[in-house]
Amino acid sequence: LLKTELCDSVGIKYPIIQGAMAPYTTVKLATAVSNAGGLGTLTTAGFTFQKMGLLKEKIDHKEELRAIIREITDSTISDAVFAVNIPTLKHAIPIARDYLEVVNEELESNPKTRRKLKVIVTSAGDPAVLIKSIKDAGLLCMHIVPTIQHAKIAQKAGVDFIIASGTEGGGVVSYEYPITTLVLVRGVVKTVKTPVIAAGGLCDGAGLVAALALGAVGIQMGTRFIATEECEFHPDYKARILKASERETLITIMPYGPCRQLKTEFSLKLQELMSKGVDTSSYAWEGIRNTVEGNIEKGFMAAGQVAGLIGEILPVKDLIERIVQEAEEIIKNLNSKLRKSQ
Ligand SMILES: Cc1cc2nc3c(=O)[nH]c(=O)nc-3n(C[C@H](O)[C@H](O)[C@H](O)COP(=O)(O)O)c2cc1C
Repeated sequence: LLKTELCDSVGIKYPIIQGAMAPYTTVKLATAVSNAGGLGTLTTAGFTFQKMGLLKEKIDHKEELRAIIREITDSTISDAVFAVNIPTLKHAIPIARDYLEVVNEELESNPKTRRKLKVIVTSAGDPAVLIKSIKDAGLLCMHIVPTIQHAKIAQKAGVDFIIASGTEGGGVVSYEYPITTLVLVRGVVKTVKTPVIAAGGLCDGAGLVAALALGAVGIQMGTRFIATEECEFHPDYKARILKASERETLITIMPYGPCRQLKTEFSLKLQELMSKGVDTSSYAWEGIRNTVEGNIEKGFMAAGQVAGLIGEILPVKDLIERIVQEAEEIIKNLNSKLRKSQ
């Protein structure tokens, strides 16, 4: 069986993580991933957007997180493990602290949650602001980085795993330093001692083997998991992932950072507005709101270049098992590809 240090530390069967994906909560997707032996991740960024007053509805972000932690705790099998993603954006630190407070309350009040919730994934900021509270809660911290420099900062903060996510990935990416997964993962592995998880552009067993060959202990995927039966994304969003070629993404500035997304009426106009140097934040929020409200073509659709390699919607369990099986086959047959020396 394909097991790594990641499986042992977190308590999962396969070294595969489902990345958080706003603006959805990903509670249904995470449930399916955790039940299938991977690490499912709950997404809080959508609540953060709403809390910041940038979408129509006003919500209680703490109670929203509590509800999805309870839902996944009750809907997963007894040995499932899950994570919660908490964005550590500078202007959302108080909100991040609120989320951690809820996590702590739930860990303390429910032994089932204590058994299953093992990881906080911090993203888009400096993990140092939350690391002590995460450790005090007895949880592991994984932090997402787009450059080797950010990986050094994460190591210094004391995170347990670094998720090195290349520019080809969907969602937040570095605009200034668009480093590919191949270069980033290898560079981070060679630079830090903290174990590394590869992300960005991965969708199958070959990707998993490549990540392991670069020195990673597992993979995180976002876009591939959108095209699954259990994923709660809008059906039109999933259909666009299946149809997209590898050329159909672009990076624009969203209010919380640069973001790789599909080319749509919305993102092409946003790109045009950006090139004119006008303030695009209200238009960008409108795109997120359209997606939340199901008006997909006028909406923001984060996705990575790997959309061009995704051709079918699968049940999560089949997808994960297929990836592991493919990876094992590739590793087994790798030697037969090499010419024997005469
Ligand atoms: C629709 C979408 C939304 C995302 N939202 C978040 C998020 O809220 N928090 C986060 O840490 N990463 C987010 N990401 C990044 C993913 O968790 C993951 O790291 C990334 O998708 C990996 O690249 P891939 O899409 O090529 O698999 C998002 C990605 C996508 C595609």
